[in-house]
Amino acid sequence: MKRIFSGVQPTQNVHLGNYLGAIRNWVRLQDDYDCIFCIVDLHAITVWQEPASLKAQTREVAAAYLAAGIDPKRCIIFNQSQVPAHAELAWIFNCVARLGWLNRMTQFKEKAGKHRENASVGLYAYPNLMAADILAYKGTHVPVGEDQKQHLELARDIAQKFNNDFGVNYFPLPEPLILGPATRVMSLRDGAKKMSKSDESDYSRINLTDDADLIRLKIRKAKTDPHPLPGPEILTDAAAQDARPEAMNLLGIYAALADRPPEAVLEEFAGSEFSRFKDVLADLMVATVGKIGREMRRLQQDPAEIDGVLRRGIEAARAISDPIMREVHDIVGFLRP
Ligand code: TYM
Repeated sequence: MKRIFSGVQPTQNVHLGNYLGAIRNWVRLQDDYDCIFCIVDLHAITVWQEPASLKAQTREVAAAYLAAGIDPKRCIIFNQSQVPAHAELAWIFNCVARLGWLNRMTQFKEKAGKHRENASVGLYAYPNLMAADILAYKGTHVPVGEDQKQHLELARDIAQKFNNDFGVNYFPLPEPLILGPATRVMSLRDGAKKMSKSDESDYSRINLTDDADLIRLKIRKAKTDPHPLPGPEILTDAAAQDARPEAMNLLGIYAALADRPPEAVLEEFAGSEFSRFKDVLADLMVATVGKIGREMRRLQQDPAEIDGVLRRGIEAARAISDPIMREVHDIVGFLRP
């Protein structure tokens, strides 16, 4: 069976990168897979979250899933902390994964920065929890943005080592699905930096809840370079792309939102000035992302609807993960008297 698991952290500001790198692809996969989409609140608290905001942020991510078109009748939508299998399997994986493996994780190094000694143990062990998220449901496919690739390789290593250690063929090795022309959306202020929830400048990202005026303003202010837009030949010239990261980023975003191949977009806009391209991009973004934001705001006014979806999701998620955890207990040798 093909089963998808993926998630977004309920830290502030669900943004265009989350949408194009992940959520939008999920919408398209829900017809062909058994899908579980999680709001990973246990991951969020690896860095400090205000308790009152965390609840609102959790509902905001749920609203983003629904507004983007995830159908709660076909997919399971829930928040991670309410299904005990995640934390429990993560502990078992803490005992399977090796320190050397986690020491190689680039995201920990980036997030912990210079204050490594002061980072939470949770931030360090985070990839083990992510492996547990997927494998508590025996997930086989994981649609994510490019930045999660290394974590998924670790999840495969953990599944493999668990199977080897216990002499079983129990966990599948989950496969990443990194899809579309915008798997790594960059900051609007700096083409060398990933668009992220934690960037200090709100102008670096498009939040899904930004209204039309703010979207237009942010696109107008987005960093570009002084040259006209390139033609399709740039797609075969890595050095030329590296020299124009902001241009490539905006083109990738446009191609993704327009659902057109990058070649076709480059052909259409080759030689144009950025000012014209930005107007077209802003119009398209208002029509697509702006629409999602409006629906999110509507949903957020009625927490009861969101909470109902989550409650049903929690139950459905437990119904899958409880029996898997019982089997895991047997495999590991935990007595179930
Ligand atoms: P998170 O919350 O940082 O991001 C959620 C999803 O959005 C993608 N993404 C991006 N894609 C393109 N461009 C960007 N600038 C960008 N920023 C974020 C991420 O790749 C991700 O798919 N550890 C994960 C959440 C997680 C998870 C899981 C995912 C926890 N358990 C199990 C899959 C399976 C994270 O922090 O995502």
